[in-house]
Amino acid sequence: MEKREHWGSKIGFVMAAAGSAVGLGNIWKFPYTAGNNGGGAFVLIYLLFVIFIGFSVMLTEFAVGRRSQLSAVGAYKSVDRRWAFSGVLGVLSGFLIMGFYPVVGGWALAYVFKTLGGLLNDPAAIGDTFGGFITNPTIPLAWMVVYLLLNVVIVARGISKGIEMAGKILMPILFGILILIAVKGLTLPGSAAGLEFLFKPDFTVVTGGTVLAALGQAFFSLSLGMGCMITYGSYLNKKENLAQNAAIVTAMDTGVAILAGIAMFPAMFAFGMEPAAGPGLVFVVVPSLFAEMTGGFLFATLFFVALTVAALTSSVSLLEVVVAYLIDEKEFTRKKAVVAASSVMAVLCVLASISLGGLGPKLFGFGAFDVFDLLTDKIFLAIGGMLLCIFAGWRLKKEDLLDEITNGGTIKFAAFNVWYILVKFIIPITVAIVAFKGVQSGFDGGSGPIMVIGLVIIALFAAISKKL
Ligand code: TRP
Repeated sequence: MEKREHWGSKIGFVMAAAGSAVGLGNIWKFPYTAGNNGGGAFVLIYLLFVIFIGFSVMLTEFAVGRRSQLSAVGAYKSVDRRWAFSGVLGVLSGFLIMGFYPVVGGWALAYVFKTLGGLLNDPAAIGDTFGGFITNPTIPLAWMVVYLLLNVVIVARGISKGIEMAGKILMPILFGILILIAVKGLTLPGSAAGLEFLFKPDFTVVTGGTVLAALGQAFFSLSLGMGCMITYGSYLNKKENLAQNAAIVTAMDTGVAILAGIAMFPAMFAFGMEPAAGPGLVFVVVPSLFAEMTGGFLFATLFFVALTVAALTSSVSLLEVVVAYLIDEKEFTRKKAVVAASSVMAVLCVLASISLGGLGPKLFGFGAFDVFDLLTDKIFLAIGGMLLCIFAGWRLKKEDLLDEITNGGTIKFAAFNVWYILVKFIIPITVAIVAFKGVQSGFDGGSGPIMVIGLVIIALFAAISKKL
């Protein structure tokens, strides 16, 4: 076997891990999920989950990955075959998330050209243009394919060269444009109501579904619960400080999500749009906002370029999980693994994309796009994170974890015992309760059966774990 590649530099790793975390989850998903779930209370619960669960799970993923020097499945399997299913569940999550993520990545790419082509000239039509575009059965497919091909090229070139470079150059640009949008939005009359919506909690709107949505958002946004950070950790140098890296990545990711919220909601309220506008939110708000500015179309274009790149640095990490599995466990060459994985993903994406126009198969009334999202965001990621914590807390040795996190005792991690108690007891119990309550309230909204199917899939995988 080839010697495992390592990150070229510390900054390279942080940027790549942050690049994985910061993506459509922060800029597209977070604002509309917060909007759908009533704003302030959701945001507060999400922040609590990020701090107490997200950071700890990320540190666990880094530690398990670097210890084993293997990708998700191998990391579990090398310790205990009965745990292989947790890794395989992660690979399945990778396929499913990549079954809709490139669809939205394709929208972002398409919007680069739409804004250049005069989308902002008729502000009143911006909303309808989005609706018409995503429900079109064929045009978004072409963009999705182009977007997916970009992933293929980056991942086929190997870990350090492709992913590291893309992250380093383009992340700061995105940050800058978001700040610009936030500042512009806040100067509009009536924008203060948007901040209030985002930050003033109203607990009367909180249900089990809200709490599960916040947990799912925390996992999705931080790229946790499917072995992505295990895989990235396996490429990490033995000298790096894992806790510090996890803290930086968590803080950056959450900062961008909150910034995206501050960029979207004040403008929305100023324009009198509905906060629960759904998946179209960024694609409508950002062009509408820049339509008000002279030369705004240039900024709008730049925004969608940056959004596409942020999405790319995330989706390459998803593809990488699947590819690393095929290379490490199934002895594929990198090229063959990339082609095989992305072909399956392309098929899933076609189903997801056409489902938005009402076409394709349905499950309990949900189209493919929603099914892939529900299964991963609401079930597989959180349960995957829970399983990782149980594995680390109950199957691995405490001394080994201490040794890995302190780099053999050469650096300090003062909160080690707090982290360990969180991982061993508190996170598994919390996730179990939140998932149970969330699935229960899912039966009011119709998504309950799909979540139960997700749980059954996990149980089946667990039952055949030794054969995986
Ligand atoms: N976190 C990314 C985003 O916010 C998406 C992502 C990348 C992801 N890798 C992941 C989500 C692993 C869950 C698991 O867009």
